[in-house]
Amino acid sequence: MQVTEPTRISPGGPLEVSPTSAAERTHAPWSFREESRRLFDDCAPTYPAMDPFWGDASELISELEHMDAVPLAGNEMRMLDLGCGVGIHLIELARWALQHLPQLISVRALGLDFSPRMIERARARVANGKLTKQIRLLQRDILKWESPANEEYDTILCLNNTLGNLVGDAVGGSHRLREETLRKVRDTLAPTGVLMLSVFSRDYLETEVLPRSGYTKDRHIDPQWSSPENGDLVLWRHCSDGSDHCCFSHWFSPSELRSELRTAGLDIARLTCIGSRLLCIAKANHCGGG
Ligand SMILES: C[S@@+](CC[C@H](N)C(=O)[O-])C[C@H]1O[C@@H](n2cnc3c(N)ncnc32)[C@H](O)[C@@H]1O
Repeated sequence: MQVTEPTRISPGGPLEVSPTSAAERTHAPWSFREESRRLFDDCAPTYPAMDPFWGDASELISELEHMDAVPLAGNEMRMLDLGCGVGIHLIELARWALQHLPQLISVRALGLDFSPRMIERARARVANGKLTKQIRLLQRDILKWESPANEEYDTILCLNNTLGNLVGDAVGGSHRLREETLRKVRDTLAPTGVLMLSVFSRDYLETEVLPRSGYTKDRHIDPQWSSPENGDLVLWRHCSDGSDHCCFSHWFSPSELRSELRTAGLDIARLTCIGSRLLCIAKANHCGGG
């Protein structure tokens, strides 16, 4: 009997599994951004239970409790969540702030995500939590997001490696997309505002993920389009529409994170490593950069 390698179904047909050079990795017969959107859409019904690397809102709240003062310009907390998923962090943070900040009168929060099903689930959770007056949710691509000139936020969230998930039509150039996004974050932060960012740790990738065979139960690392030596993974998942879809995931070293933030005019005020994640609080550098 002839034994053949299992063939993965992908939007562009079966994949070659031999590793390729960086130049060859730049073009695929599908858009990685669109693939990512479909994969996250498919994850929405079970998010966040299906990924052991993702963290919950308790780690953010504990960071806020460590801060001398929660950044508030007045008695309203203005929050923006980029890639808000099913809205867990916005909801928990809004509740926490309303209960724990005595000077706070109101919360005004906006969550953006390009997955229609993530936004749909987030809307249902916000309605269940009776927070529809405080939290607005929009289906938007972060890469196309422009904040109105007079809009600013006290807290901007970008959590569970949403920054590392940003990808264009091609898999290359994600560094530039992160930089553009971080510059927009900097320009949208209130003068006393903070960015709360959690990304995946390169050290964890190298010591805990790569040595194991496979990534998680339901996703596997693509050897052709990934570049683990640069912290870039392309992950495939068999989705409920019967096809395989992939997403991109960049894993960061602390120095790389610091440097990407610095280039965008943001400085790290606090950096904590929690298992697979680097959790960072950053502020706009008003002395230059950007
Ligand atoms: C790993 S999940 C994290 C969700 C949420 N931040 C959390 O911590 O629960 C990444 C999220 O980013 C969204 N996302 C990825 N790329 C995006 C883009 N270009 N524009 C908008 N949302 C994006 C996905 O749909 C997904 O909901």
